[in-house]
Order: sequence, then C-alpha cells, then structure tokens
Amino acid sequence: MKTLASCALHFAFCTLHFAFCISYSSVAHATQPARAADPSGKETSAAPSAVQLRTFSPGAVWPDTNGVHINAHGGGILYKDGTYYWVGEKRGRQQEALGFNVYSSKDLYNWRYEGVALAPVEGDPQHDLAKGCAMERPKILYNDRTKKYVMWFHLELRGKGYSAARAAVAISDKVAGPYKFLRSFRPNGNMSRDMTLFQDDDGAAYHIFASRDNVDMRICRLTGDYLGPTSEDRVISSDEREAPAMLKHRGKYYLITSACSAWAPNAARLYKADSIRGPWSNEGNPVRGPNANTTFGCQSTHVLPVAGREGAFIFMADRWRGNGNLIDSRYVWLPIQFDGDRVVIEWMDHWDLRWFDKAGRTDIPVGRS
Ligand code: DGJ
Repeated sequence: MKTLASCALHFAFCTLHFAFCISYSSVAHATQPARAADPSGKETSAAPSAVQLRTFSPGAVWPDTNGVHINAHGGGILYKDGTYYWVGEKRGRQQEALGFNVYSSKDLYNWRYEGVALAPVEGDPQHDLAKGCAMERPKILYNDRTKKYVMWFHLELRGKGYSAARAAVAISDKVAGPYKFLRSFRPNGNMSRDMTLFQDDDGAAYHIFASRDNVDMRICRLTGDYLGPTSEDRVISSDEREAPAMLKHRGKYYLITSACSAWAPNAARLYKADSIRGPWSNEGNPVRGPNANTTFGCQSTHVLPVAGREGAFIFMADRWRGNGNLIDSRYVWLPIQFDGDRVVIEWMDHWDLRWFDKAGRTDIPVGRS
C-alpha cells in the first residue's frame, strides 16, 4: 500500500480537490465545446471533430480528432519520424486499469486515437496483468540498436492494492503497438511505483522510480536493449517524492517530482544535477504564482522536448479526478521557462508553440540568432 501518510492525506484532500476541480472545469467547458469521455471507458465512434485546435488550454476538456476527451493519463510522449505519440492510462471512472491508449499528432494540439497499446488480461487470474491489476504511468522509448519500441510502466497486481510495487516491461515493432508484455519485477529487488524513463544524448536510458514505500527516488541505468535494469542504480533523494519527470538542458539534469498525496495535488519539487550520476540538489518548487502550492491542482507526469527546438520543453501534468471520475481527469501542459539554470513553470490560460519564439526567453530557437 501507499504509505499511511499518503492515504490519510488522500482522504483529507478529497473535498478540497473536488471543489478545486469544479471551479476549473467551468473554465474548461467554456473554452472547449467538446464532449467529455464516455465514463464506461469505451471508445465512442463520434464524427470527426471539425475543430482544428491551435492552442493549448490547460485544464480544459481536450478533444481528440473524434471529438472525445483524450484518455491517456499519467502518460508520456515519444517523437518519431515527424510524429508525436502519446501513450497514457486508459481510465474509466474507477481505479481499475483498462490498459494504455495511444494517440498521434504532428502539431501537438490535434491528436488522433490510434488504439489500445496494451490491455489487461481477461480470463487468467494468475497473469501479472490479470484484469483488476493497476497499470500506471506508461513511458515508451525507441531502441536504435534493436529497432524495438520498449514500454515500461508501474504495475500493481490484482487484489494486492499498491503492495506489489513492480516495474513492468513490454515491447513492440510498432510505436502504437500492440505491445507484448514481457515481465514484471522489482528492479534490483527495489520496490518500484511512480516512474518515468529518460533517454540521454548518448543513447543510454534510465528508469527513475519511487522506491522503499515512496521514501526514495531512484535512478537505474537500463541495459543496452532497454529491457532490464543494470547495477548502475542510485538514490536521487529520500524525501518521499513521486511522479518523476526528467529533462536535460545545457548539460544539466532536472527532475520534477510531486509529494505523495494519492490523487490530491500538492507542491512540486525540482532536483538538479550536473551529472546523471548526481549528486542531486533540492531546488524547491519550480511552480510560481497563484496555486503554486498545488502545482495548479496537478501532478507531474512527463517533460516533452519540442522537436527541433533547442531549449523548448513542455511540462505535462495530470489534474486527477480521483473521486470516482478518473476518465475525466484533465491535462495541464505548460511551457518550461529557464531563469539562468533554474526551471520556472507559470500558469497560462491558453498558449501555443509560438510562445517559444517570444522575446524574453533565455533560449533561442534552433535556426534563429
Ligand atoms: C499518486 C500517483 O502519482 C498516481 O500515479 C497514482 O498511483 C495515485 N497516487 C494513486 O493513489
């Protein structure tokens, strides 16, 4: 199970979180006239949306090209051959896993549903992915050596709450899947809950995960085929953090994390290092402005480098609706700003990629001087 403190906080924050979501959703529906997702978790066959999105509207309903709110929570994005692929948790109302959905986009605003990349297994209660398990925070990398797409995710076994604390690995020849489940395990014997993957410039990949009942945040280098952990396995922090999201900019490594309060939002915290081997320093909360203490009601999931734009990164976070409506959880994407070597995240009601061209940025887009 999550730590006792985490569970207590979950209940304590529930009412507050509910009120918070209501106030934000009124803004969301005013700006995006799309349908919310089908709460049963089934994909609906709506007519393609005529609306071409040209902005990000953090916290709003985000319709896919069928006009249905995107169902890819706790996700990550891989850019491959001119297309972005977004993999995330397919959710219904309740906590039970429905697998992972994949969407594709060329412009980051308009997303086409590609299907289920990996589903829980029905009819085999002994299977690691037996229906009723929890499958969370999928991330995909492409392995240039094996030419395979490799997915890692957080797996909790059916009927065991959050006590299994395993990482799981799946593989595919195609980015959108279907993925073949390989195995689940505790990397080097360590518990593994919230997680992300990070691929460094030299092709080395790392699994970053909450361990020791969420007390430790660990980083473990993966094998050359990305299918398993190596013994290069270190502790980044022992501050009870989860929801890791990593970026590298101008040779420095940054890790955005949340505290542990189940589905309720809390203050983010940034860690920084000159080397991926550490040491990592605690840089405090990178979020500024009103609601910074709840990360704008969200929890980090991924940092997306914008393709072809040096220094352009998008902070991706989930505004969870953990009180029985997980499918309607919202996405909050915001540009990452750099103040010297400090990461700063500020709220924007609407924004678009031209923001990265604007004067005042400390980084110059590729091809500009
Ligand atoms: C917080 C984690 O970040 C989520 O991915 C999920 O595991 C919830 N806890 C469950 O309470």
